[in-house]
Amino acid sequence: MAELSLRRTRQDTAIRELTRQVRPTVGQLIQPHFVVQNISAREAVPGLNAVYRETPDSLLEQIEADLEQGVSKILLFGVPAEKSDTDFDHQFTADQIAAVRQRFGEQIWLAADVCLCSATLHGHCGILNDSADQVMNAASVEALTEAARLYASAGANCVAPSDMMDGRVAAIRQTLEQAGLDRTLIMSYAAKFHSSFYGPFRLAAESAPGKDIPLSDRASYQIDPARPNDALLSALRDDREGADILMVKPGLPYLDVLAELSARIPKPWAVYQTSGESAAIELMAREALISRESANLETWTAFLRAGASMIITYDARHARTWLET
Ligand code: PBG
Ligand code: ZN
Repeated sequence: MAELSLRRTRQDTAIRELTRQVRPTVGQLIQPHFVVQNISAREAVPGLNAVYRETPDSLLEQIEADLEQGVSKILLFGVPAEKSDTDFDHQFTADQIAAVRQRFGEQIWLAADVCLCSATLHGHCGILNDSADQVMNAASVEALTEAARLYASAGANCVAPSDMMDGRVAAIRQTLEQAGLDRTLIMSYAAKFHSSFYGPFRLAAESAPGKDIPLSDRASYQIDPARPNDALLSALRDDREGADILMVKPGLPYLDVLAELSARIPKPWAVYQTSGESAAIELMAREALISRESANLETWTAFLRAGASMIITYDARHARTWLET
């Protein structure tokens, strides 16, 4: 018996390149952006690598710079200055969508995150009841649907509800159809878990929930990490309600869920490498404990292996450099 068997296909770069089953490409990455009303200069987001709370002007400059790096797909989070309990200012975000569309035309594929948590006083993803101990479903869905309609009319290619209310995909789909917006995709945060990995995001989006009110966290609407069956039910439901793209979020701690759901539901699957996951890599990189580049490439490869066809990642803008080296 010859000594080498499995190692024969690992022996040099050529055969390693030829035998890979998946490979990350810039084209399948989506770059998140935060655009914030009433700040005078952009602000770095703690823990993330070159990610900012952008002003309307700096947003356009950053998108331009990213386009030069081959990044043409974005997920936009609008952060309005005025917070409220019931009346939300979605116009600021809609205006930024329109501005991106006007400046870049069809060069940019834009998904608009649809939620209320950046616009509520309490940071929850929906409207609270009077005793502030529950998120009301129907009222929240109505407000979310209005936001989705506005963002789609402003030129979003895709609306992405991240709130986890029941029935929001169906309501948004119906409203978009009534408005004649039948080309707008819906990317549903279908399997979104109640996770600890959202920390930097909440600083960026001003959406930390539950200051001084009874309802202190999102456990009553996001999926319990110990309930993969709930994620399956949620994904099946959003599929039926007309979502075009389904998502698992966070990514690395839920690879099992991504693998199983993507095998069961033959729609395109997105995965969100959340702010906490990115920051974990970034902070280790800052301590020289890890390579930011190879840790991200390994993570993205894992997502593809598990069945994702697109990856939302704060490091999309570095991908081309990393993939070329
Ligand atoms: C809120 C929302 C969150 C993220 C996207 N939309 C955080 C949360 O649910 O508290 C997380 C994104 C990230 O951590 O990168 N609707
Ligand atoms: Zn939210």
